[in-house]
Amino acid sequence: MNTVSDAMALSGVPRTLLLTTRARVEEHQRPDGIFRDPDIAQWWPALSWDPALDPVYSPWVQLSWAVRAQVLDQMVQRHLATYANVVVVELGAGLSTRYYRVGQGCRCWLELDVPEVIALRRQVDTETSQHRFLAASALDSRWLDAVPAGPPETLLILAEGLLMYFEAAQVQQLITRLKQRFLGATFLFDAVGGITQGRWAQQLARLEAPLRWFIRNEHDIPALGLSVLEVRSLPQDICRYPHRLGWFRWVPWLSKLPPFRNASLILETKLKT
Ligand SMILES: C[S@@+](CC[C@H](N)C(=O)[O-])C[C@H]1O[C@@H](n2cnc3c(N)ncnc32)[C@H](O)[C@@H]1O
Repeated sequence: MNTVSDAMALSGVPRTLLLTTRARVEEHQRPDGIFRDPDIAQWWPALSWDPALDPVYSPWVQLSWAVRAQVLDQMVQRHLATYANVVVVELGAGLSTRYYRVGQGCRCWLELDVPEVIALRRQVDTETSQHRFLAASALDSRWLDAVPAGPPETLLILAEGLLMYFEAAQVQQLITRLKQRFLGATFLFDAVGGITQGRWAQQLARLEAPLRWFIRNEHDIPALGLSVLEVRSLPQDICRYPHRLGWFRWVPWLSKLPPFRNASLILETKLKT
């Protein structure tokens, strides 16, 4: 088991994994939780919450990240049901437990994150030949060699809560590299809209995790070299849980307006020519 200091030693964007991890722990603990995640609940007591993150954590973001995780789980399950021998690469995986929630039918699942995060994972999770851990930056092209060879359509690359921390040019470079190597593969990711550049983003910037990449809507995506298969508006998906909205009960109405609808989009895309 890791010590408290391992998680506390994280800074910058790697520290934000504690936010999404806590969101899943709390979802698991709710009697009406939208998914069960016993593995993250088991790891959580060995980690430590960093109080510096308090200003960017709230019931609203907890629900948002739980719903995002669930929507992506469903997209992964669909891919696994469509293809045999699927390889999944989770970029910026943090302490993702998606492999345990929905992924064990895959041929191979790679969790990729920066070295300090993979070191933390190794203290709570065990690598196997089917479930592998890669200590690398997603922006470094060398990790591409670690992806097992196979038909590109069976490959699923996933980036949850990652790309918004990159510069637009870095996002483009990553996509270009993925296309050069894995044309025809599926790329699932989420992206934020300009409306997120408010107080919450300023608080993230104070934590040295500034948001840098914004899109207007899904129509920005083909220009990056991706064809869009499915778009989900996270604010609209959250409306499926009206009993959880509390003070945010005006969200169903607001989420129909483009700036709010596009505040956070989940995109299923194909790496195309
Ligand atoms: C908001 S957390 C999301 C973690 C996980 N995807 C989840 O949803 O729980 C962002 C993650 O991106 C990782 N990250 C940041 N920069 C990265 C990079 N250049 N390459 C790979 N991972 C990176 C961080 O270490 C962190 O684990």
